[in-house]
Amino acid sequence: MDKFQAEIRSSFRTEMFAFGLYTVLGNQYKSFKPNFGEHLKEAGKQEHMHGRIFRQFYKKQYNIDLKEEKLCIAFGKLMGYALTPMPLSKKLKMISDNEANVVVKIEKQITDGVDNKDYLKVLKRILPDEIAHSKIYDDAFGDK
Ligand SMILES: [Fe+2]
Ligand SMILES: [Fe+2]
Repeated sequence: MDKFQAEIRSSFRTEMFAFGLYTVLGNQYKSFKPNFGEHLKEAGKQEHMHGRIFRQFYKKQYNIDLKEEKLCIAFGKLMGYALTPMPLSKKLKMISDNEANVVVKIEKQITDGVDNKDYLKVLKRILPDEIAHSKIYDDAFGDK
């Protein structure tokens, strides 16, 4: 497996993991602010959709089905439960920083140029969502 293939697989896994994590947080913090739980769960649904986009791309590129969807979602949920003792502000800071790193990475890839046209489309499709996710901490605590 070359670096590119490994990266797509890793992206697929990370997206599915994030779906599980956001889903648990959305349930745990639904009354933190009006619609906040929905906001987190909506982010989770976007991650799920990103995961499916990476899976589709992987299938088209390598004709291999990535099968670890359920496992990765379960790990994300497990992480959500494991983080329960951590204050929400700390959790969301960590998550937003992570999302911001993803944004930087995607923007750099797009700027540097992507040979694969379909992959470029994938990156451009998910970028606005990841930008929105990087603001989740501010959405929750920015006005304080
Ligand atoms: Fe994503
Ligand atoms: Fe994200």
